[in-house]
Amino acid sequence: MIERIPAAGASFVMRARHPDVTPARHPEPVEGCRHPSAAPFDPSTELRMLKMRLRLAYMLQQTTFLIAIVVLLIASSAAFSASNSECLMCHSARGLSKTGKEGRQVSLHVNQTQFRDSVHGGRLCVDCHIDMAEQKFPHKTAAEPVMCSRCHQMGNSEGAPQASPIDEYQDSVHGKAAAAGDFDAPRCKDCHGYHDVRSHKDPKSRTFRANIPKTCAACHSDSRITTKHNIPVKQPLKLYEKSIHGRAVTGQGLLSAAVCIDCHGFHGIKAAKDPSSTINRPHIPETCGQCHKKVLEDYKISIHGEARQAGIKDAPVCTDCHGEHTIQPASSPDSSVYPTHVVATCSKCHEDARIEKTYGLPANRLSTYIGSYHGIANKYGETTVANCATCHGAHDILPSSNPRSLVNKKNLPQTCGKCHPGASVNFAKGSVHVTPSPEKDKGVYWVRVFYTTFIIGLISSFAGYIGLDLISRWRRRGRQEH
Ligand code: HEC
Ligand code: HEC
Ligand code: HEC
Ligand code: HEC
Ligand code: HEC
Ligand code: HEC
Ligand code: HEC
Ligand code: HEC
Ligand code: HEC
Ligand code: HEC
Ligand code: HEC
Repeated sequence: MIERIPAAGASFVMRARHPDVTPARHPEPVEGCRHPSAAPFDPSTELRMLKMRLRLAYMLQQTTFLIAIVVLLIASSAAFSASNSECLMCHSARGLSKTGKEGRQVSLHVNQTQFRDSVHGGRLCVDCHIDMAEQKFPHKTAAEPVMCSRCHQMGNSEGAPQASPIDEYQDSVHGKAAAAGDFDAPRCKDCHGYHDVRSHKDPKSRTFRANIPKTCAACHSDSRITTKHNIPVKQPLKLYEKSIHGRAVTGQGLLSAAVCIDCHGFHGIKAAKDPSSTINRPHIPETCGQCHKKVLEDYKISIHGEARQAGIKDAPVCTDCHGEHTIQPASSPDSSVYPTHVVATCSKCHEDARIEKTYGLPANRLSTYIGSYHGIANKYGETTVANCATCHGAHDILPSSNPRSLVNKKNLPQTCGKCHPGASVNFAKGSVHVTPSPEKDKGVYWVRVFYTTFIIGLISSFAGYIGLDLISRWRRRGRQEH
């Protein structure tokens, strides 16, 4: 059944809709019919044609629209990737290279996959190589260096994040050297890479915690650089790898242990002698204390911590007792605070005449300890006897006059009692660091005098006896020979 017909054929409509009037039996052909003579006018064919034409026109209109869109899309994407693919036309070739300084071949190959997987994978080559945007290829001039900070700075319109304000790098030992034209100093790309930049959270990134020691060591294990620049520590990685922190990070994957940047910072790295450096002596306790919070609390209220606060340069900080790149657990025989090594560690200062004199510290701490039962046993490798730190504490050391001090008279029974169960007040009464004198420590003095005389006497009489015996044997032999 015909449903839609143009208005011009209104009469036909009537007829067509007339069930008993067939086109073949049409009474009078209408004027304007295309085939008046040959073919009798067939309204149904005409209608079908019209319908088809209309459909065609409709389809054509639709397709043109679609084609336009597709063409536009293709055109735009071609424009988008054209510059990257244009660049890659040459630069994806593995063999592409140029002759650099000293005649060395420098590869100009760009690894497409690596670039696509990087944080900048969606960007245009010319977003970074801005000088290349207007170039005719092949290039004539050398490329300008890429400025990462064009985007990675406060308030940039590119949405480029930053870990710290850019001037932190500019103010660092690295940034200053780079600004002075030092080729050895790290630029952004030396720590981050460039076509393969990844977020520090990505385990494949050079700035991922576990990979940082190697990233820094690219230069800091290079003896040409460390010698030329007079860097005080020549092989930090070698030392660090063996430390508790290094073994924890690289061996056990314990990412909470310290890596280079936790102690040194990353964009703001400064030399130890710079007063604003994280590793400048007075700042070291806070640097370590980021992670060792309880230790820092104890240290701060100790005599050493207070001395540091007061600006006393000789006051010990964490690294005086533990080292920095060589830190070991206290239970390791390699540690500077292992029971048999603590004595030497404290004595660096407490046996130093200048320090003793400057701060009015009592002398002979070491000699009196070495002469004691504890000291002798400690010297022979006995770890269970008392050492400086088991009596005085490690981080909470206070003068004996302080009621909170472990060696305050009141607390001694408890301190000695850790190892001498049931130690009475009497047991702990005699002073520990004794250079006995006849007035102060009468008992100890006379006992020592007695023992010394007795032992010397005993040894002399033994020697005398053996001597006399030898002489008499020699004489007897002489007599027998004659
Ligand atoms: C027709 C091939 C070709 C095209 C296309 C091309 N390059 Fe190069 N490109 C080279 C060659 C060859 C060199 C080495 C020039 C030389 O010897 O100094 C080069 C060098 C470079 C360098 C290093 C220059 C230097 O000083 O070390 C950069 C960066 C570079 N191209 C980026 C691009 C970018 C970005 C594009 C796209 C916008 C691009 N190239 C397109 C062939 C090409
Ligand atoms: C995130 C910024 C960035 C993007 C994006 C980028 N590059 Fe680079 N490109 C660099 C840096 C940085 C260098 C090292 C030289 C320098 O410091 O200027 C470099 C170096 C090059 C070199 C010299 C050879 C080399 O490896 O040292 C070529 C060639 C090059 N880029 C081509 C490209 C091409 C092609 C693209 C796009 C596929 C691209 N770059 C995208 C930052 C970028
Ligand atoms: C054209 C602007 C631009 C330039 C130039 C540029 N970046 Fe980026 N960078 C960005 C943007 C935008 C992002 C964020 C990308 C994202 O998160 O998808 C980014 C992300 C990063 C990230 C990861 C940040 C994160 O938190 O995940 C690092 C690292 C980075 N860029 C370093 C660099 C280095 C190094 C250079 C120079 C070799 C450089 N960028 C050059 C725009 C830029
Ligand atoms: C001495 C090495 C070093 C240099 C030089 C350096 N960075 Fe970084 N940067 C790092 C490290 C390491 C981190 C990761 C810090 C962290 O773990 O939070 C980082 C973080 C970043 C981040 C945050 C990205 C992220 O992964 O969250 C951006 C962006 C960044 N740096 C950009 C730059 C730019 C731009 C420059 C040059 C002006 C630069 N860096 C120079 C070592 C460096
Ligand atoms: C591209 C090479 C390079 C990389 C990578 C590098 N450094 Fe350096 N670093 C240097 C140079 C060169 C100096 C000496 C600068 C100068 O002469 O003032 C230096 C100086 C230092 C200093 C101060 C030493 C002094 O002279 O007192 C410290 C600390 C330091 N770097 C730590 C790091 C750490 C931590 C990292 C990794 C996050 C790192 N560096 C990555 C080359 C590098
Ligand atoms: C646990 C903290 C810590 C870690 C981890 C650490 N360092 Fe250090 N580093 C220090 C301290 C503290 C000093 C200062 C020593 C001094 O004053 O003599 C120092 C000194 C340095 C110096 C000499 C700086 C100067 O100005 O004297 C360099 C270079 C250095 N470290 C590089 C590294 C590198 C590279 C790593 C990673 C492999 C690393 N450090 C890991 C704490 C650390
Ligand atoms: C005067 C020397 C001295 C100073 C200063 C010092 N330590 Fe210690 N530290 C020791 C001794 C001795 C031990 C081992 C005895 C013990 O376990 O109490 C020790 C043990 C430790 C331990 C392992 C046991 C524990 O208590 O967790 C850590 C961690 C530690 N120190 C971190 C630090 C940090 C961080 C600082 C700086 C804030 C610091 N130390 C300052 C001497 C010192
Ligand atoms: C980023 C956090 C962090 C920083 C910063 C840090 N440490 Fe640690 N440190 C750790 C972790 C985590 C461990 C435990 C590693 C393990 O158990 O394997 C550790 C272990 C130690 C130990 C051994 C503890 C023991 O069991 O006897 C000592 C000592 C120590 N650190 C001293 C220091 C000193 C000194 C500094 C500063 C120069 C410092 N640490 C900086 C995280 C840190
Ligand atoms: C880097 C040098 C240094 C090291 C190492 C050191 N000390 Fe001290 N110590 C000092 C200085 C300096 C003072 C004086 C502080 C003051 O008078 O303010 C002091 C004070 C003391 C006092 C208080 C003395 C008094 O008469 O008030 C005791 C106790 C003490 N130290 C014990 C130790 C023990 C135990 C160790 C080893 C675990 C140790 N020290 C390691 C430098 C050091
Ligand atoms: C058996 C426990 C014990 C050992 C081990 C020990 N001390 Fe003491 N130390 C004391 C007592 C108790 C006092 C306070 C009374 C005195 O002077 O005899 C003291 C006093 C001191 C003082 C004087 C400041 C004050 O608090 O009165 C210093 C400094 C000191 N010791 C350092 C050391 C050093 C360094 C070592 C290791 C070589 C060491 N001590 C080993 C128990 C000990
Ligand atoms: C870290 C453990 C420890 C601490 C703390 C300690 N001692 Fe000892 N001391 C020993 C050991 C182990 C011996 C070896 C003999 C033994 O097992 O009794 C010993 C032996 C002695 C001896 C000689 C042998 C004897 O038994 O008569 C005297 C005296 C002594 N200690 C006094 C003290 C006094 C006083 C203090 C406190 C100021 C003290 N000790 C703190 C572990 C300790």
